[in-house]
Amino acid sequence: MPNETKHAAPFIKVEGLSKRYRADLPPVFENINFSIQQGEFICVIGHSGCGKSTILNVIAGLDEASSGAVVMAGKEISGPSLDRGVVFQSHALLPWLTVEENIAFAVRSRHPDWSRKRIAEHGARFIEMVGLKAAWKKKPSELSGGMKQRVGIARAFSVEPKMLLMDEPFGALDALTRGVIQDELLKICAATRQTVFMITHDVDEAILLSDKIMLMSNGPHARIAEIVVNTLPRDRSRETMHHDPQFYRIRNHLVDFLVRRSKMIQQNAAEAPSSAEPLIVRPGLEGDQPPPGPDNPSVAKMRVVA
Ligand SMILES: Nc1ncnc2c1ncn2[C@@H]1O[C@H](COP(=O)(O)OP(=O)(O)O)[C@@H](O)[C@H]1O
Ligand SMILES: [Mg+2]
Repeated sequence: MPNETKHAAPFIKVEGLSKRYRADLPPVFENINFSIQQGEFICVIGHSGCGKSTILNVIAGLDEASSGAVVMAGKEISGPSLDRGVVFQSHALLPWLTVEENIAFAVRSRHPDWSRKRIAEHGARFIEMVGLKAAWKKKPSELSGGMKQRVGIARAFSVEPKMLLMDEPFGALDALTRGVIQDELLKICAATRQTVFMITHDVDEAILLSDKIMLMSNGPHARIAEIVVNTLPRDRSRETMHHDPQFYRIRNHLVDFLVRRSKMIQQNAAEAPSSAEPLIVRPGLEGDQPPPGPDNPSVAKMRVVA
C-alpha cells in the first residue's frame, strides 16, 4: 500500500469513539478512529442504524459518546458551536421568517455586533450563491422542498463555520433537484475550500462530492471498515464523471461493500479485536479489485437503499 501523506495535526481527530445507548445492549459502534484535514470533503456511507447520525451529532456537540473524544484544532469538543454548522435532512427553518430573515438570524448569532445593513449584505451573498435571489422575501411555506434545503445550506455557509456537518441533506429531494443542489454545493466548496463531513445513502453523490468516503460496517459493534480515497480528478462533474472507468471501479467497490462486506464485517465484529486505524483503499489502483466496466448493468443501475 502506498504511504499516506502524514499531516502533523489533523483539523478533526476522532479517537476511540464508542456509543452505547443502554447498558444492557451492545455498543452501536466502537473504537471509531479517523481524521479530517482542513478543506477535505468526507462522505460517510453505511446501512441504516449503524450509527452515522450519532457520530455526526457527537462531532456537532449535540450528543455525547460513551467513550473516546473528538478533537477539533487541538481542543476537545464539549458542546455545540458556531464553528460547526449542521444541515439536517429536514431543513429546520424558522417558518415565520422569510429566506432573508432566516439567514440574517444565523449571521446575527455569529456577529452580534454587526449592523443590520452589514448582516443583510453578508446574507445576500449566500442567498445568491444557492440561486435563491428571486425568493429572498418568501417564507418557507412558499418554497419547494429543494428551495428550503438550499436555504438551509445558505444559512450554514453564511455563518462561515470551520466545519460543515450534513446528515443526508438531499435524501428527501427528487433526483433532478438533488442534482442541481449537488452542482451548487460542488461549486461553493471549490470556491471556499470548506471542510465537510456528510452522510449520504447515495453512492454516486459520494463519488461526485467527496475526497474520501468512509465505509461503516453494520451495527451493533459498527466500525469504520475502510476509507476509500476518491481518485477521480477534483474537477469532476455529474455529466462527465461516468465516462471515467475509474468511476465504476470506485462505485463497484462501494456497492460491494454495502451489499456484501458490511454484513461479513459485522458478523466478525463482536469477537474480533478492532484495529485502531481503518484500512485506506484506492479501488482499482492497488490490484485488489477486478476492473468492472460501464457494461455491468446490475451494478451500474443500482441505487443503494439503506
Ligand atoms: N436516543 C436514542 N436512544 C436509543 N437508541 C438510539 C437513540 N438514537 C439512536 N439510537 C439507536 O442507535 C443506532 C444508531 O442510530 P443512528 O446514529 O441514527 O444510525 P444511522 O444514522 O446510521 O441510521 C440505531 O440502532 C438506533 O436505533
Ligand atoms: Mg441517520
